[in-house]
Amino acid sequence: MEETMMLYGLGALAVAALLPKIKSRLELSLAKHPSLTGHSRMARRVAAQVPFYDYDDAKFFCCDGAPDDVVARRRAAFTRLALLYRERYAQSAALTTATAGGVSDMQFTAAYRVPFQFSRHVREHLRGGAFMQSAGGVMLCDLDGNRFYDLTGSYGVNVFGVDFYKECIDEGAARVRALGPLLGSFHPVVASNVQRLREISGLDEVSFHMSGTEAVMQAVRLARYHTRRSHLVRFCGAYHGWWGDVQPGVGNPQPAHETYTLKDMDAATLRVLRRRRDIACVLVNPLQALHPNAGAPGDSSLLDSSRRAHFDRARYTAWLRELRAICTERNIVLIFDEVFVGFRLAPGGAQEYFGVRADLVTYGKTLGGGLPVGVVCGRAALMKRYRDDRPADICFARGTFNSHPYVMGAMQVFLERMETRAVHSLYENLDALWDTRAQQLNQRLREAGLPVQVANLSSIWTVFYTRPSRYNWMFQFYLRAEGLALSWVGSGRLIFSLNYSAADFAAVADRFVAAAQAMQNDGWCWSHEQLTNRSIRRGILRELIAQRFKTL
Ligand SMILES: Cc1ncc(COP(=O)(O)O)c(C=O)c1O
Repeated sequence: MEETMMLYGLGALAVAALLPKIKSRLELSLAKHPSLTGHSRMARRVAAQVPFYDYDDAKFFCCDGAPDDVVARRRAAFTRLALLYRERYAQSAALTTATAGGVSDMQFTAAYRVPFQFSRHVREHLRGGAFMQSAGGVMLCDLDGNRFYDLTGSYGVNVFGVDFYKECIDEGAARVRALGPLLGSFHPVVASNVQRLREISGLDEVSFHMSGTEAVMQAVRLARYHTRRSHLVRFCGAYHGWWGDVQPGVGNPQPAHETYTLKDMDAATLRVLRRRRDIACVLVNPLQALHPNAGAPGDSSLLDSSRRAHFDRARYTAWLRELRAICTERNIVLIFDEVFVGFRLAPGGAQEYFGVRADLVTYGKTLGGGLPVGVVCGRAALMKRYRDDRPADICFARGTFNSHPYVMGAMQVFLERMETRAVHSLYENLDALWDTRAQQLNQRLREAGLPVQVANLSSIWTVFYTRPSRYNWMFQFYLRAEGLALSWVGSGRLIFSLNYSAADFAAVADRFVAAAQAMQNDGWCWSHEQLTNRSIRRGILRELIAQRFKTL
C-alpha cells in the first residue's frame, strides 16, 4: 500500500516537473503555420516521397477534364507558340542547349519553371533561352535581337535602372583603379561608405560580406554569440538566402535543429517569443508583408489558382511594432533582413518605411551598385566579435573578398547618388504611383473578363489567378511572347525598376492584357463549376498516390 502511494507520488511529481515542458512544446506547436511550409521537417519528409511522373502529349492538354474543343484550341495554340519560340528565339535557345549540360544552375531553373508534370514537354517545345546580350533603359535584348521590357529586376538588385548600375560600376572602378583588386587592406572609399551606412541604418557599426546569404549568416551568428542562446526564429515562407539554418525545409538535405519556423502576424508566435529562453534572434524579411506565411510564389508550384497576395501596410506595421516590443522585453535580437527590400521602399529602407527600428539590419543586392555584396549594420554591442574579459571567446567572421575595392567603389557611387535630388524625387509618392498602376491594370483585366490580377508591395508585384485552373503557369510563356521578360520563377514575381516612365508602364500594361487575352482565347483559362482549387489538388494527390504505388 505504502509502495503504491509512493509510486503515485513519484508519478505526480514527474508529471508536475514535465508540465512546463509540455506546455512550452504545445505553445510551439500552436505557433506553427498549419501548412507544410510551416512544418519544415514534415515538408522534407513529404517532398522525399513525391514520385516523378509526367504527362504525355495527350494528357498535357486535358489533365483538367476539359472538353475536346477546348483541348483542340490549346493544342493548336501550343503548336503556334512553339513555332514562334523556335523562330524568334533560335540563337538564344541554341546557345542555351549547347551550354546547359555543363551548368547545373541552368538545368535546375529550366526544370523548375513549371509544375514538374508539364516540365519535359515545355522544355522540349518552349525554349526561350537563358542568354541576353545587352540591356539599357528598361529594356533587355537577347541574342536574336528581340527586345523585352525587363520585369526581372535582376532578382531585386535593379532599383534605379540598369544604366544607373553600369555607371556605378564604371565610375567606382575608376575611383579604385590605382589600388586595384588588392585585398586585406581597405581602400579609402570604405570610410565614406561606412559613414553613410551608419546614417542610413541609424546603427553604430557595419561589416561587409559578399552576398546577402553571408550577411544573414553573420547577423545570426552575432545574435547567438551575444545572447548565448541557440535558436533563431524565422517566419513561415520567408526567404533569407540559402544557408542551412534559414532554410530548414525543402531544398536543404539536413534538418536545421536550431531554427523555429513560426507563424507570421500571429499572437501565438508572440507567446512563444515571450516564454522561451532559447531564442537568440528573430529574422524578418519585410517582403513577406505581401504574402505572409507563404513561400516565394514560383510558377513551379502554381498547381491551381489558390495563390493570393495583399499588402496591408498598417497591419504589418502594427505587427513589427509588437515584435519590436517583445524582442526588447526579452533581450531577443531583432534582425531586419532588408537584402531584398532595402532602398526599394524608402531611402532609409524598411526601418524608415515602417517606422520600426531593428537591432541588426542586413542589406545586399542593390547596395553594391551592381556588384555582389552583403552588409550587416548593427548596434556596437552586438557587432563586437570578441569579449574584453574572455580573449579566447571570439565570434569569427572573415571572408577573402569582404570590402573588395571594386565593390566598395561601386557602392560609394551608389550611396552618393542616393543623395541626389534626382533619386530623392523617385521616392516621392512612390507607393501611390505603383498602387495606382496596379489598380488600373487590375481594372482593365477585370473589364476584359480575364481571370488574372496583380498584387503589389510598391514596385514588387505578383500575379494571381481568379478562376480555378491547372494551366496558369502558361501565362509566363504568353508574357514572353509579348516581349515581357520575367525571371525563372515566372509570374510569381515581377520587379519593376523605378525608372519605368508612364509610357513604359503603359506599354507593359498593354502587353500584359494582350497576353492574358491570348491565353484565355486559347482555352487555357477554361473552367467548370466542378473544377475548384480543392478538386484540382485532390486530383493531383490521386495521381501522386497512384504513381507511388506503381513505383512500389
Ligand atoms: C531577404 C533576402 N535575404 C537574403 C538573400 C540572399 O542574398 P544572396 O542571394 O545575395 O545570397 C535574399 C536573396 O534573394 C533575400 O531576398
